[in-house]
Amino acid sequence: MKQNILITGANGEVGHGLITALAKKANLVTLDIKPLDKKLASLVKKTYTGDILNKKLVKEIFRRFDFETVYHLAALLSTSAEKNPAFAQTINVTGTVNLLDQAILQSQKRKKIMKFVFPSSIAVYGLPDLPTKEKTKKIKEIEYLNPITMYGINKLYCEKLGIYYSNYYQLLANSKRYIDFRCVRFPGLISADTMPTGGTSDFAPEMLHAAAQGKNYICFVRPDTTIPFMAMPDAIKSLLQLTESPRKNLKNQIYNVDGFSASAKEIELIIKKSYLKFKMSYKVDKMRQRIVDTWPTDVDNSLARRDWNWKPEFNFINTFTKYLIPSAKLIYSGHKH
Ligand SMILES: NC(=O)c1ccc[n+]([C@@H]2O[C@H](COP(=O)([O-])OP(=O)(O)OC[C@H]3O[C@@H](n4cnc5c(N)ncnc54)[C@H](O)[C@@H]3O)[C@@H](O)[C@H]2O)c1
Repeated sequence: MKQNILITGANGEVGHGLITALAKKANLVTLDIKPLDKKLASLVKKTYTGDILNKKLVKEIFRRFDFETVYHLAALLSTSAEKNPAFAQTINVTGTVNLLDQAILQSQKRKKIMKFVFPSSIAVYGLPDLPTKEKTKKIKEIEYLNPITMYGINKLYCEKLGIYYSNYYQLLANSKRYIDFRCVRFPGLISADTMPTGGTSDFAPEMLHAAAQGKNYICFVRPDTTIPFMAMPDAIKSLLQLTESPRKNLKNQIYNVDGFSASAKEIELIIKKSYLKFKMSYKVDKMRQRIVDTWPTDVDNSLARRDWNWKPEFNFINTFTKYLIPSAKLIYSGHKH
């Protein structure tokens, strides 16, 4: 029998990719505050349009379905969170607690472990200044966990919550494990299919989508700004690979995953090789620049490599030449969708 899987935030960029990848393997139940994209509707068993803060609804979903795995993607991203920090805290943290509470209740009741997969972010890192960022290069999971944004703080706290619900819930003597919390820290994601909103790494995908639509673009960070990125197919691959790994192989619960590291200028230049008429300029948004200046240049993926054989398929060049640019050309010429 097919497993039931719950995906929250299913209508977002990652949700689009994850639903498509899992549709054949599992019965998908989705929850998003926005109605699910019509293109995805036929791929899911049941879709709920509603809020992860609505406890009654979340409870009802867990009453109706037994879940093998929960992918908790719903969140308010970094730039949006900075515009309304208290609201972000409620969605990102209280929303996560609502899901974890129902997940642990259900797994205790049926005496079976539930996997809870959570996408964290490089926003959990907070490098103190540019020279330190320059020096640090590939950051390890335990380094510089001093986020300066509400989003980064929320993600770091949710990682700790996941570990608590997995290993220490109510500190019961001889407590059994009911939740198997697994987490990847994503870099900035770039998808050819969807436009990002509210993230601070959005300048890269925004450049691509503007070029593909024949529009000019004003980049909100300096040309030398360098952070790690990942092509959406690799992001989905990492979630699935981590989920499918045997628990005994996983010595950690939080893993960096990588794609490639590039500056805004390098991304501009590679896009211009395919879109010869593309014009762009730079107008720095101080708040967003300040955020990315605390994010690492690149991440160390050695734990993910060691425990679940992680290896990205897409590097800087083939992310653009083999995935983003050909797909964007199809989409904007009307041959896809
Ligand atoms: N996109 C990136 O670059 C990136 C990087 C690191 C981590 N992540 C994480 O990956 C996850 C998915 O990101 P994404 O890029 O798909 O983001 P997204 O903004 O495209 O999708 C988030 C989805 O959550 C939904 N949502 C927001 N508030 C909700 C609520 N209260 N109740 C129900 N649904 C709600 C939104 O409607 C949206 O469809 C998030 O947790 C994000 O923090 C993303």
